Amino acid sequence: VAEPNRVVVAGDWHGNLNWAMSQLRVMRDLVPDEDPLVVIHCGDFGWWPNSSFPDHIADLAANLNVRIWVTPGNHEEYPVMHTPRWLSDDPVNDSRSLIALKRGTRWFWCGRTWLSVGGAVSADQTQRLLGRSWWPEEELTDAEVEKIISAGIASVLVTHDVGTVASLDLGPWPMGWGEVVRRRCVNHRKRMDWLASGVQPRYWLHGHYHQFYQQTVKMLHGDVKVTGLSLDGCKMNWGVLNVESMRFEIFSPVK
Ligand SMILES: [Fe+2]
Repeated sequence: VAEPNRVVVAGDWHGNLNWAMSQLRVMRDLVPDEDPLVVIHCGDFGWWPNSSFPDHIADLAANLNVRIWVTPGNHEEYPVMHTPRWLSDDPVNDSRSLIALKRGTRWFWCGRTWLSVGGAVSADQTQRLLGRSWWPEEELTDAEVEKIISAGIASVLVTHDVGTVASLDLGPWPMGWGEVVRRRCVNHRKRMDWLASGVQPRYWLHGHYHQFYQQTVKMLHGDVKVTGLSLDGCKMNWGVLNVESMRFEIFSPVK
């Protein structure tokens, strides 16, 4: 992929085929001049058991000359997604139309290092089945954070979860989800804080919370412009980002 002028950054799709297919066509129409058009997907893409969603999307993306680079979320079937069939750590030189980025994957665009670090905790994991609808590999580990930080700083951080530095309006924790999982979620966000304090991004793009917002947060290394995207079926699920100015030029309309 040659260095793009504009890319799409998208939030959760949850295997929603109608949404994903319609939106890929809308994006392609809105940004006809990028060949290929790169879609940076922030996770909960839709690798689900016995689902043909990834194959259908890969086919459509290939037809539209779109490259979808997914930073994996929590609701992904890791044993399937984390295989050579989908996984990549060198997206710029990967010609596949759909790839899942290995944690810690970096690339260089417009004078900036971009870094993808997938993973989050499924808040509703007590209502899911291990190995069927919940996979423990979803969680970013301390060892992974250490390794990623030791590889150096990055200007643009792409993740599924976000640190506690971003103040989100999450509402009360549902009783049925349990205190243990709540703590696990908070700890994961703190791990993201640690990641960000180490890699010192200026921009942070993420999904997971199913709400759109933009915030400038102050960290020790300086200001970080955070953007969270909403989910499938909603407006602000994706935006067209100018990779030089790092401004969003267009946001997705409702359907
Ligand atoms: Fe999600």
